[in-house]
Amino acid sequence: MSTAFAIDFAARDFVEIDFSHHPVAVHASEVTRRFSGQPVLDSLDLTIHSGEFVALLGASGSGKTTLLRILAGLDAPDGGEAWVPEARTVVFQEPRLVQSKTVWKNVVIGLAGKHASRERAGAALAEVGLDHRADAWPATLSGGEAQRAALARALVREPKLLLLDEPFAALDALTRLKMQRLIGELCQAHGPATLLVTHDVEEAILLADRILVLKEGRIAFDRRVRLPHPRRAGGADFDALRDTLLAELGVPQAE
Ligand SMILES: Nc1ncnc2c1ncn2[C@@H]1O[C@H](COP(=O)(O)OP(=O)(O)OP(=O)(O)O)[C@@H](O)[C@H]1O
Ligand SMILES: [Mg+2]
Repeated sequence: MSTAFAIDFAARDFVEIDFSHHPVAVHASEVTRRFSGQPVLDSLDLTIHSGEFVALLGASGSGKTTLLRILAGLDAPDGGEAWVPEARTVVFQEPRLVQSKTVWKNVVIGLAGKHASRERAGAALAEVGLDHRADAWPATLSGGEAQRAALARALVREPKLLLLDEPFAALDALTRLKMQRLIGELCQAHGPATLLVTHDVEEAILLADRILVLKEGRIAFDRRVRLPHPRRAGGADFDALRDTLLAELGVPQAE
């Protein structure tokens, strides 16, 4: 797993933030979710503080999307409870745009009154570098552009909690790196608590304040990322953390 392009992640502050003094944005306590009697989430505890950028890793089928859906309010746990801010939005792997509405209308879809203005949509689109496509139809967007539109749609709601479920997984490597940097910048500017589900260990290290690994229904690994910004892939500390995470994920390391 290597990064072919070097991009500075300069947007975030050099000073390490102690999030324990920030208000709590997510508090999940003993959350259990079963499918066909089998627990996918098994008495899971998780706290995320406001402004904290948390990456969630875990094997396929370990329950990452299940957890995200519960935090988003799209699914309910069978046991335990999850406290989340009312203002929360999700960006999925696929952009989920309404094909019969132009891009700017997709951005403010579901909002009422002045919140649904073209001006507001345009400002959000400008933030993701897509204001020039405001009047386009979703079908005419590239994959990366469509995902930018989905991001604008999330940001225009000014979420206190941003839930991202592998939002870059379907993008090519270069677009993915640009989107990673954009997310880092936007989260720094807007300051929501962010939970990013990803399979990409390097992506997690480049972006996150804290990295979790979900295993056997619980948070089995929880580590602050103490690397200074701007971050780049590579270097002894980066590689050591990557190897630790890969070992946690059960990926054998080459000698
Ligand atoms: N609605 C459902 N009904 C039955 N089983 C489900 C349902 N949703 C999820 N599961 C099962 O729960 C387990 C966890 O699924 P989930 O989608 O949360 O995994 P994931 O960690 O997001 O995996 P991936 O990395 O592949 O996206 C899987 O075994 C899945 O088949
Ligand atoms: Mg998933």
